[in-house]
Amino acid sequence: KNFPPGPRALPLLGNLLEFNPNDPIKSFKKVQSCDSVANNTVAATNTTNHSLAERYGPVYSLYIGPRPAVVLASQKVIKEALVTRATHFAGRPDHMLICHIIERKGVILADYGPTWQEHRRFALTTLRNFGMGKRSMEEKILQETQHTCAELEKHAGKSMDPQHLFHFAACDIICSVIFGSRFDYDDPYFKSIIIFMEEAAKIALDPWAILYEIVPFIKNLPVPFIKRAHGLISRIRSHILKEIAEHKESWESGEPRDLIDCYLDESEKRLDKGTTFEDSQLASTLFDLLIAGTETTSNTLRTATLYLMTHPHIQERCYQEIEEVLGSREQVCFEDRQSMPYVQAVIHEAQRVADVVPLSVLHSTTTDTEVQGYNIPKGTLVVPLLSLALHEEGQWKSPHDFNPENFLNERGEFVKPDAFMPFSAGSRVCLGEGLARMELFLILVTLLRRFRLVWPEEKGAPDYSMVFGGTQAPKPFHITIHLRESTS
Ligand code: HEM
Repeated sequence: KNFPPGPRALPLLGNLLEFNPNDPIKSFKKVQSCDSVANNTVAATNTTNHSLAERYGPVYSLYIGPRPAVVLASQKVIKEALVTRATHFAGRPDHMLICHIIERKGVILADYGPTWQEHRRFALTTLRNFGMGKRSMEEKILQETQHTCAELEKHAGKSMDPQHLFHFAACDIICSVIFGSRFDYDDPYFKSIIIFMEEAAKIALDPWAILYEIVPFIKNLPVPFIKRAHGLISRIRSHILKEIAEHKESWESGEPRDLIDCYLDESEKRLDKGTTFEDSQLASTLFDLLIAGTETTSNTLRTATLYLMTHPHIQERCYQEIEEVLGSREQVCFEDRQSMPYVQAVIHEAQRVADVVPLSVLHSTTTDTEVQGYNIPKGTLVVPLLSLALHEEGQWKSPHDFNPENFLNERGEFVKPDAFMPFSAGSRVCLGEGLARMELFLILVTLLRRFRLVWPEEKGAPDYSMVFGGTQAPKPFHITIHLRESTS
């Protein structure tokens, strides 16, 4: 009763037939109308120009197979649900294929409850302290950036596709935080992590994954892509378990070198108190940090470079600001962002257009609740349409263009509008937000200072369209790298 309205759904299939696996974001925004399905009369073209939010309002329902989902389609309703009724909307659905492929739940897919709470708090505090071992988080990022620059320098005067390089950099930063050491970019294990991430994107969109919603028993069938996913996951997990075992041998209580040691310290403190801390849960948490922290950051870096290359005047203005602030200083530090409003605006604008996690991670309701006066029963699948908030009319000066002015006031000061929520909001808000913001700033400032990034004209006009596979990313592209004269 009083469930949010939405397009008419077919029995069992729901609105699935109308989903375009190549553009699921558009599907969530504009399902080809109910009317064409219900009456077979109204031409689809009449209806596709209407967004579902325009038709049904900012809270509407869709059926993913037989399961109802509620879509939150404005920054106001996303905040009402995820922030004002935070605990009501803090669950995770457990009936997705990915939950069955990953045996244990770490943080991302864990349902609302003590295990999630304790592990989230642990990971958040450890990442926030930024002070594990001798080197701070900032130093770890800057050190990795030197490796990235060295790789880019090899291509000076030539063009290259930066996709793998940015994946490696983002993944290596997480590795040095959790394992205490980074990998060489050509290490075979390291490459297998990157391959898994690319595969994971495909799993999310594979027709089998969607079919699972209708016929859940396919999880027991020898479907090739499920077998492949299991193989890749167990390879990464077995390395993580080996790292944990090795850490235990050399671990000294109270002397943490990395996140694994911090976990061992914490487990020791909790020994007699009854705890959810144990090896297998640690392995799942590390797995989550690796997966969640790589593609997201890397895709944002790629989007930023794509727009900076193709907007040379914006790149040049960033360079001028960076030079003015850093002067003869060799390295940037995170604190410098306070003196670089334009660079800050450009990085935030790149994040807005990158729209890396457009559907957030799906939520579910932990209790019977409501939003905007509609009743939402316990266990309902919830889709926070972050993409819509990031492009919402009335929230941005230029919602549909790349324009750093979206984050600058009339005095040229950096301001962050409420609708900026690429990390989502509420009790499930991205726990790597602090780390990601630091990475984006330090890496981009270092790159812009050392290199001029140029769009290779022979490639024709740039294509800004995005491809979705769990996260969203620009299509592959090349950068021509020019070394700048050193001013320091
Ligand atoms: C969750 C975005 C980087 C770890 C999320 C969510 C979003 C997001 C939208 C879902 C929040 C929700 O369910 O409402 C991003 C973006 C990033 C980024 C845009 C980079 C630009 C990172 C990094 C890490 C990380 C670097 C780890 C080191 C996580 C984890 C969760 C999460 C563990 C699950 C939180 C939970 O369920 O409690 N992220 N993320 N993310 N992110 Fe990130």
